[in-house]
Amino acid sequence: MKYLCSNCKMFRYDEDKGDKETGLLPGTKVENIPHSWKCPVCGVSKSYLEPLHKKISKELSTKDLTYYRDIAREMLTGLCGVYPVCDGDPDHTCTGQKYGAPIGLGGAGQAKTFEANYKALQQYRLKMRVIKTHHEPEMSLSFLGNDLSIPVMGAPLSGVKSSLKDAIPEDDFYWGLLKGAQSSGTLGMVGNTPSSPEDLGVKVIGKNLGWGIPFFKPQSQERLIKLFEVAEKLDVIATGVDLDGAGSTYWVTSDKSVYRKSEAEIQELVDCTKKPVIFKGIMNSEDALKVLDSGGSACYVSNHGGRVLDSGQGVAEVLPDISKEISGKIPILADGAVRTGFDVLKVLALGADVALIGRPLARMSIAGGEKAVKMYFDYVKDDLRRAMILTGCDSLPDAKMSIMDKLGHPY
Ligand SMILES: Cc1cc2nc3c(=O)[nH]c(=O)nc-3n(C[C@H](O)[C@H](O)[C@H](O)COP(=O)(O)O)c2cc1C
Repeated sequence: MKYLCSNCKMFRYDEDKGDKETGLLPGTKVENIPHSWKCPVCGVSKSYLEPLHKKISKELSTKDLTYYRDIAREMLTGLCGVYPVCDGDPDHTCTGQKYGAPIGLGGAGQAKTFEANYKALQQYRLKMRVIKTHHEPEMSLSFLGNDLSIPVMGAPLSGVKSSLKDAIPEDDFYWGLLKGAQSSGTLGMVGNTPSSPEDLGVKVIGKNLGWGIPFFKPQSQERLIKLFEVAEKLDVIATGVDLDGAGSTYWVTSDKSVYRKSEAEIQELVDCTKKPVIFKGIMNSEDALKVLDSGGSACYVSNHGGRVLDSGQGVAEVLPDISKEISGKIPILADGAVRTGFDVLKVLALGADVALIGRPLARMSIAGGEKAVKMYFDYVKDDLRRAMILTGCDSLPDAKMSIMDKLGHPY
């Protein structure tokens, strides 16, 4: 039988193979491991070893988020501990310097920006307000002319081979993200990766009759304009460029150059297509105003989940300033450590129109495809509803700064 250390979520013990490092011979059953034995990763006793398949063998009817999280933990062993809170904690499996190795689900450098996203958002607390006539919260919205059930979308993701242990085929990964979001009444997005054809994501959206948004890395204008043409033909909802992808080392080391873009270049991208264009990776109000001036249809506030620039600011630190400049002019999207419906409400109160989720959906898509992704959206939706009821919000415009207070500096 195989076991996983439930404390560090990193050490796996296979009774058939034993563990050379701690002197356990092949065939040593867990009940025969001496009580003095310690996990070689985190130092806890053998009582922390839990059968890997305990939950995975649950009946079909009992499939829940825990079920899919357990599968993801097994599929991503050594890369992601699928911890109770995905917060860029320096002690987590995904974080720490990688010295040139792929970053998996972690962040660039020491993953301080990943951690900053979490900490910056958690310094806001929701104020409870319950004496008010009850109304069912209105969570739906129109985004670029499309009706969505919730102000939450799936962030663009890609790179199963480079970041997710090649767990499933890249196109299946995209399909799970897109269909799961759609089944929950909202939109999914896909990215692009140098290890697959650059138009793979947009083609999967085409298979989904255009319901989805492809994001392309900021490659040469010539290449981007061609990809925009493909996207337009496949009738996608909108097309995006993750401008902060200019810092993607994976693209550069794969010999596919990525670049910073000038104002004239983003203008050219907007003008080359009839589809709405979204620019991602915006982290200050000057850049946000440039997006607005270029005719961009939405501004996506993000630092790529801390995966490109380390020692950077958390999204919640910059979002209010950006919102002050462009709110009501074009939709503002924002991501970065959004994990729950409570987090969604805070991101809206900070000035976003839509909050987006990255890492949790990546885990769901590899572990259970559409069903698991939908389950995550539904979980977020339930908590958003509850958060709105308990903070006195009847509709999305009620989510304002005044529903929160702010702790001192979190670092
Ligand atoms: C495994 C992985 C792959 C990603 N791939 C892309 C991508 O191809 N294009 C892109 O714009 N962003 C990509 N991102 C960044 C996400 O869109 C998003 O900005 C980030 O994950 C949000 O932070 P969160 O994961 O803490 O929710 C990726 C993120 C992860 C974790």
